[in-house]
Amino acid sequence: MTYVVKSECVDCKHTACVAVCPVDCFFELENTLVIDPDICIDCAICEPECPVDAIVSDRKLKPEESHWLDFNKEMSRVGAPVITKVKAPMEGHEDINYTDQEAFEKVSRIPFVDITDK
Ligand code: SF4
Ligand code: F3S
Repeated sequence: MTYVVKSECVDCKHTACVAVCPVDCFFELENTLVIDPDICIDCAICEPECPVDAIVSDRKLKPEESHWLDFNKEMSRVGAPVITKVKAPMEGHEDINYTDQEAFEKVSRIPFVDITDK
């Protein structure tokens, strides 16, 4: 069992979730985060931290949202950096109101690169 990041995180990334995870299983992509289901210990601490309710247990994931479970699993394997520190949300996040399908079309499959580290 695992928790899953879904559509509400896309183009938003509040990152409040990462501060509480005891096993550091959030990975960062360009415009969303994902949870590695093999590392997540199903503790549920992160769920209430997300201000846009983007995190849900896989047990409560609606059947029509199951692609997010596959996405989290798949994108935890692409070498994206682990994120453990809270940072500012993405610019313009207040105006985002995607349908699930729109979010899935817009979600990036590219690992985040912090250019300020270079
Ligand atoms: Fe981390 Fe617990 Fe959330 Fe899993 S449920 S991502 S272990 S805080
Ligand atoms: Fe995304 Fe919510 Fe975490 S918007 S980064 S899942 S706090």
